[in-house]
Amino acid sequence: MTCGASEADGLRTRYGADGSFSLWSERFGEGFHGAIGARREARQKFVRPAGLEHWDTGSTLKVVDVGVGLGTNTAALLSAAIDRGLQLRWWGLEIDRRPLQRALAEPVFRRQWPAQTLELLEQLAATGHWRCGCGSGALLWGDARQRLPELLEQQRGQCDLVLLDAFSPQRCPELWSEDFLARLAALLAPRGRLLTYCSAAAVRQSLLQAGLELMAIAPPAGNGQAPTCWSLGTAASPSPLPGGDGVLRPLSAMEREHLATRAAEPYRDPSGAATAEEILSARCRAQASSTAGSTSAWRRRWGLERRSGGRAWQAA
Ligand SMILES: C[S@@+](CC[C@H](N)C(=O)[O-])C[C@H]1O[C@@H](n2cnc3c(N)ncnc32)[C@H](O)[C@@H]1O
Repeated sequence: MTCGASEADGLRTRYGADGSFSLWSERFGEGFHGAIGARREARQKFVRPAGLEHWDTGSTLKVVDVGVGLGTNTAALLSAAIDRGLQLRWWGLEIDRRPLQRALAEPVFRRQWPAQTLELLEQLAATGHWRCGCGSGALLWGDARQRLPELLEQQRGQCDLVLLDAFSPQRCPELWSEDFLARLAALLAPRGRLLTYCSAAAVRQSLLQAGLELMAIAPPAGNGQAPTCWSLGTAASPSPLPGGDGVLRPLSAMEREHLATRAAEPYRDPSGAATAEEILSARCRAQASSTAGSTSAWRRRWGLERRSGGRAWQAA
């Protein structure tokens, strides 16, 4: 990953290992994508586990993109859906208009996508909507916690895919609280999928509490990872998800044990208006008085040296 000079807007240009364009947020102290690169990450962690091959040509999928950012996940999904003759009805949740504008002004980013996909992202940046023969979309600008209830009012139980790509839980706990995750879960159709790069125990535990079944997103075959290694993320659904195709797999023993440690203490934000600091310090206090197993003992048992859940480590 190469990183450019700091810009006045606090967003620094980065290029991933696949050469694709990304940004680093000074405010969140984190990259928008992992070291493997934005486009590869979008394909491995969101498009591949979306299971588009299970849909008949001409079907319409309802999709919610949480943390639209540069639009990489949406562009990758749109391109794959168009190739398969699928229609999308799409909603995006995003607080900051600048990442998409920055991406669209960048020749490397523009070269990443087919002309039709680029045209839809341009419509989105200019008007907050896109429309074409392959469907339509609307961006709900603002704090996702405030915009989600109106989407839920219209689309409860009807969405086929929710792509959750917020900054990591320690950097942006607002979008990983059990309250927010329960609302996202309520958007899902009975066979819908919530997909995220995150494998943090707190997030997985909250998804389970919201009544979803979990699978891990398996790394593509042949990338040399040991069997006990972390997954690429989490897929969650109201119905059991199919495994056995090398894309999704059941949680490993290591991952299941992780859910019984203090790391599984949820992020809480019942008002939907708490600051990151308030959410993090309330969780620290709850962990201090928790009777759950020690996370460091679990880490030692499995020979793990670094913390889980963060984007950089999973991507390394
Ligand atoms: C990791 S980046 C997303 C990258 C993006 N999915 C892509 O494909 O380029 C996280 C995004 O979440 C947005 N975000 C942070 N807090 C938010 C909030 N409270 N509501 C909505 N979006 C938020 C950030 O502005 C940022 O664009």
